[in-house]
This record gives sequence, C-alpha cells and structure tokens, in this order.
Amino acid sequence: MPELTTQAIADGLEAARVRTHGLTTLEEAELTKQHNVLMSPLVWDLAHIGQQEDLWLLRGGNAAAQGLLSCKVEQLYDAFEHPRAERVTLPLLSPTESRRYIADVRGRVLEGLERLGDGDPFPYVMVEQHEQQHVETMLATHQLRRGEPVLGGGAALPAGRDVAHDSVLVPAGEFVLGVDGDAEPWSLDNERPAHVVDLPAFRIGRFPVTNGEWRRFVEAGGYDEPRWWSATGWEYRQQADLRRPLFWSADGSRRRFNLVEEIPDDEPVQHVCFHEAQAYAAWAGARLPTEQEWEKACVWDPALGRRRRWPWGDSEWTPALANLGGEGLRPAAVGAYPAGASAYGAEQMMGDVWEWTSSGFEAWPGFEPMLYATYSAPFFGGDYRVLRGGAWSVGSNAVRPSFRNWDLPIRRQIFCGLRLAWDV
Ligand SMILES: [Fe+2]
Repeated sequence: MPELTTQAIADGLEAARVRTHGLTTLEEAELTKQHNVLMSPLVWDLAHIGQQEDLWLLRGGNAAAQGLLSCKVEQLYDAFEHPRAERVTLPLLSPTESRRYIADVRGRVLEGLERLGDGDPFPYVMVEQHEQQHVETMLATHQLRRGEPVLGGGAALPAGRDVAHDSVLVPAGEFVLGVDGDAEPWSLDNERPAHVVDLPAFRIGRFPVTNGEWRRFVEAGGYDEPRWWSATGWEYRQQADLRRPLFWSADGSRRRFNLVEEIPDDEPVQHVCFHEAQAYAAWAGARLPTEQEWEKACVWDPALGRRRRWPWGDSEWTPALANLGGEGLRPAAVGAYPAGASAYGAEQMMGDVWEWTSSGFEAWPGFEPMLYATYSAPFFGGDYRVLRGGAWSVGSNAVRPSFRNWDLPIRRQIFCGLRLAWDV
C-alpha cells in the first residue's frame, strides 16, 4: 500500500510546483495574454493554484474564512464564477504578485504539514493533484499558443518496437471496478467505491490508434463520409469543418509547441475529439471501449482474481513503464513499453494519450462526494465523455488505472486519442 508520509506529501507538492514554474517562467505579456478562447491566461492558472491550496489546506475548505487574498480578489479565481473565456478581462494579480502569493501559501502549508500528526493527509494529495491537473491545462495552453517556441522538443523517450497492431481478448466475467480509499489513498471521489461488475467478453486494441493509421482514415475520405459518423458527430464535423486532427496541416506536417515537424507514423494520434474517435472506430470496423471495459483490460489480474495497482503489477511507476510526467512533451511510439503491459497484454494503457471511451460521466453506486464536493458531482449526467489512462502530460501521482477524466465530445485541444474495442 502506498504510504502518505509527510515527506512524500511535501515531495509531491514540490514536484508539482517545479512543473508550474517551468510553464510560467515567461515574459509578462505571454502570461497575461489569452492565447486561445478555450483557455485562461496562464497567470490565472498560476494564482488559482495558490487560491485552491489556500482554501483546502489553510482554511479546511471554509470559503467564508479569511484567506491570504481579499474576498474581492479571491473570487476572481473561482472557476465556477468566471468562465475561461472571460478571465482575461478580470483585474487579476500580476505574474509577480501571483508568484509571491503562491509561495506565501506554500510556506504556511508546509508549516501545517509538519504539525499534521494523526490528521487526515487526503486534502494534501487532493491539492497536489489539482496543481498537476492545472499543469496539464497550462500545457494545453502552450500547445495552442502561437509564436516563438519556448518549451523545446522534449526529452528523449524509449524507442518503439516493430509490433503487430492487433488486439487482446478479455474473457467474460466479473471484476472489481473502482477503488476504496484505503487501497488507493490518492483516489478522488468519482473513482470510489470498489464494486463488482460483470462484463461479456470483448477484444481491445493492444495499442492506441497511431498517426499512420489515422492518416489512412483521412486518405480514405473518412472525414467526408457521413456513414461513419453519428448524427451529432456529422453535424459538428460540418460546422467545425474538421478534416484532420487538430495541429495537423494539409501539407502533412504538424505543429507541436510551435515546432513544425513531420508526423511520426508509429506515435499514438492525439488531438482528436470524441466524435472523430467514434467515426474512426466505425470506419475501422470497431467501436470505442466502455470505461468499464477499459479498466478491466488495464488492471484486472485474472490469475489472481484481483486488481493490480498498475497494469504491470504493484510496483511504483518508473519512466521505463509508462510515458507520464510531461518530460517528453509527446506520446511515445507504440511498443516502447513492453514491461508496462497489462495482464491481458494491452500496452501503453497508462500515459501517452488520454483514451476516449464511449461512456458518459456517471457516479459509481455508493458515490460520496469528497471535501471538494463540486469536483465531480456537478458534472455527472452532463454531455461529457470519459477519458482514461492519462497522457504523457500527466504527473504520475495524478493518475491511476481507476482515474476518470471527462470532457465535452467536441474537445480536441487536450492530449487525447483512442484505442479500439470489439464485441466477441
Ligand atoms: Fe482548478
């Protein structure tokens, strides 16, 4: 079982902060500008990270208690009050004020952590994951930003291997979906509780769908054939004039953090929306997996009749097992992580790209909201689709096989791709 020592918590908070600074050490104008209507200015994310830490860790979630900012300033960072599109118009803290504020909050949080004793460590890991989620959001802002490249091309990743892009069989039967807090202390409310689910047999792709495979869909006219698309998907394809994944150009190159480069065939495709993923699956004679199928293929160990902590077993994540943590700034080629395979033989389920599933976002039976009660509950039953597995951009403490991400079916700026599934 992972232990939540105060040292581990402090290290996790620090690791998130290093990533935050890495994405916000930019000229003032770059931080205060809105790079895309879908995103906040980076300086909003920066101070919002501190505001949430102030709220959950210094005031126990009591918004009526006085924080380190005046009420008037603090409410500028309420994500429910101010949609992303309007945040650039607010009288936000400057980059210098924001940095000073988040450092001040962090100093007090670490003092509190030293005195934690038998207190509940969960709010700390919740806040760490919140910061890691905003790091990912800020990476998406960087990907949408135009201008001089500032992040470089990313660190080297393990090479792929020559592999058949086939599928693996997951036989029919019961498994345990979701987790409990004692087994997974980092898990958030929507991943809980663990419960038994029975599924019919299915097959699932050994790897995510690659750029090379997606290019064949484009060349076969997949974007022009309504028969592959749902009615809503086709309507959106027309309205948004979708022709290829976001950041691909008609000349066959792509833009990645403002570097123009060739599109590597063997890398998982990213920046396709749910509607595109669904159309691709139909064209390929397949479908998207449900999130229950995805989780079973990822984490169930049929020989032992129990969940593993990770697809590869119970050992901690290392960079040799999955592409997480953000250093590579891109997905790794398929076949790069044979040691990370699940019990059923599916590879690269964690990291690389978020994988769209066919499932809407709903509560597991017995759901109970956590301290941050509006994290999941307001989004259940909406027009969202669940994504699984985390992407290259996600911190290793901020994702698990049970982790559930959700977004609108038209979203493509996130680091999302897909894996196919088939009935047996
Ligand atoms: Fe947030």
